Amino acid sequence: MRKSILFLPLVFSMNSYATSMEVLHWWTAAGEYESQQVLENSLLDAQIKLRNFAIVGEGGDSAIRVLQMRALSGNPPDAAQIKGPDIGEWTKVGMLEEVESIIDTSSWSKILPQAVRDTISFNGHYMAVPVNIHRVNWLWLNKKIFTELKLSPPATWDDFFDAADKIKAAGYMALAHGGTAWQDSLLFESMALSLLGPEKYKKAFVEHDQSIITSAEMIAVFEKFKRLKPYTAKGMVGKDWFQASTLLSTDKAAMQFMGDWAKGMWNASGKVAMRDYLCVDVPESAGLFSYNIDSFVLFEKHNFSNENKVQSTFAQTLLSPKFQTEFNLAKGSIPVRNDIPMDSFDKCAQKSYADFAKSELVPSFTQNLASTSHVQNIMTKIISNYFNDPNADAAKTVKRLSLALRAVN
Ligand code: BGC
Repeated sequence: MRKSILFLPLVFSMNSYATSMEVLHWWTAAGEYESQQVLENSLLDAQIKLRNFAIVGEGGDSAIRVLQMRALSGNPPDAAQIKGPDIGEWTKVGMLEEVESIIDTSSWSKILPQAVRDTISFNGHYMAVPVNIHRVNWLWLNKKIFTELKLSPPATWDDFFDAADKIKAAGYMALAHGGTAWQDSLLFESMALSLLGPEKYKKAFVEHDQSIITSAEMIAVFEKFKRLKPYTAKGMVGKDWFQASTLLSTDKAAMQFMGDWAKGMWNASGKVAMRDYLCVDVPESAGLFSYNIDSFVLFEKHNFSNENKVQSTFAQTLLSPKFQTEFNLAKGSIPVRNDIPMDSFDKCAQKSYADFAKSELVPSFTQNLASTSHVQNIMTKIISNYFNDPNADAAKTVKRLSLALRAVN
């Protein structure tokens, strides 16, 4: 009896403070779900109930389309997973809050790396709250298959093709690869970065410099990219990245090119880095880091007293050391802050963290960090059509890419 009397006011006071917040994201795969749970629980600790507006599929493309409709109808969520140059596009529409008008951001110049601050800034203002840094140019290896076939991690593309032939001959799938356009494009990006090097990569995919886009070197990249196709499995049309990642974690496939969100997915199924799978740089890309930074924009709300307070708690929570650690452990990424101890992270995250500080950084174009999602979509389609059409010609594809980029710039 005494217990319930004590309990009642507590429930009442929690309810009277508790408030909710709607957040759009596309974290629906296993590892993503775990990280989203960290978000949900951290917000609950701050007495905010998360209303998940989670849109499945297409590497976030469907989520962006739904968001556009909601925004057009004047009813955007409180926050949405928007990253890279799309942050600027939404800012121009005039619907976003400046983060510094919501929370004190004076420490950000010290705790956030320059590449992160540049990514979330527009016209000198922070327009999004960053949560993590993913590395895209990873090659993941199934340890059991590599050990059984006595293969070393491929350091060059020649090593890669050599290993892939041996894996195929032994009856395993060489490359775990899903069948959607952005995944084809991610393969291409990894190869293009290593073959072109960081300067030409940036000229081509950030600046859309026609002299690089139409170069003989670019045609050669497309030709070499096509050599990957026979190592991918048939019957993967429409399959998402995590379905491909499962082929690797269940010892059916030996290698996968994917950003480290794949690690979040393996962690969630009990697989351990270095014991079950290995992380190595994409061949010939050591010292290069193609980054993908997840962030949330905050939509302007008119009920200032309540909704701004909720958004401010949300932003503060996301940047807190506790959240940065727990969330990134689950997600497979590394903290966005430069002052988080990394001892509880696995070897792949520790390598990523060290590499981020000392590598040549380039924004991942397939993950929308180099151009708006509109431009990224156009490029992705051209790259994917080329990859999947047995009769496609590299020189013609480069011409098509060049024309498309001229039209959008
Ligand atoms: C996002 C990641 C996400 C991945 C797969 C990327 O674009 O940045 O956070 O895990 O897509 O859904």
